[in-house]
Amino acid sequence: MMKQDSESILLCRDLEEMSRKAAELFVGLLQETIASRGRFSAALSGGSTPVPFYSLLAENPFRDRVPWSMVHFFWGDERCVPLDHADSNYRMVREVLLDKIPIPKANVHPIPVGSMDAQTAATLYEKTLRKSFDLGKGQTPRFDLMLMGMGEDGHTASLFPGSTALEETERLVVAPHVAQLGVDRVTLTAPVINEAANVVFLISGRAKANVLREVLEGDYDPNRLPTQLIRPRDGKLLFIIDNLVTESTVTPER
Ligand code: 6PG
Repeated sequence: MMKQDSESILLCRDLEEMSRKAAELFVGLLQETIASRGRFSAALSGGSTPVPFYSLLAENPFRDRVPWSMVHFFWGDERCVPLDHADSNYRMVREVLLDKIPIPKANVHPIPVGSMDAQTAATLYEKTLRKSFDLGKGQTPRFDLMLMGMGEDGHTASLFPGSTALEETERLVVAPHVAQLGVDRVTLTAPVINEAANVVFLISGRAKANVLREVLEGDYDPNRLPTQLIRPRDGKLLFIIDNLVTESTVTPER
């Protein structure tokens, strides 16, 4: 896949350095955005990789550098479990970050799963996005930051290989059945992710080396490698990775 002009790769020693670089980037981007627009909207990723990053934001020197009342948090995807369930992406972020920072409750926008079916949650979340971004019909929200992870199968958010969600071009939020897991998920769609001003992937560990190499350097085959769908329209794309490159031919910027 051709390297996109807006794409860059930041090579780090390990997850700890990845997390620190991501926290520095997050605070810098946030301060710049708030200085110009008075608000910063980020869609957060679930899974395990971003946990140390979220934890860093919850403590100084990062915590007190952020005007949390001007920050809005959304989620890129969610599992269809109650928001206090051990598998909930919302619960994970609440425990490691939200409970430790003075962010107004009204600025935190979880995907409303748990108390309703996935399709209804997706429809409701789309309404939340349209209202929060003050969107007209047919408009797509432009997140200041879209934080993404990637699975070992090349999925991102809950856009899984072979999923009908990969072809969605109109809706902002969908609720695909993920055959690989035998569950429903709720996820932002590629058009929303690609509208973001900054898309940052945190990808760690040798288990993802081969799939990352295929994503970055293999043939364009997003149905098999959904992370390849992520090509920001005019935003920046950054892969923050760790020792993966020792096993792949990715050429990192230092
Ligand atoms: C989720 C995430 C998902 C995640 C990848 C990587 O709900 O699990 O949104 O897309 O980012 O599966 O997960 P790890 O960071 O745990 O490897």
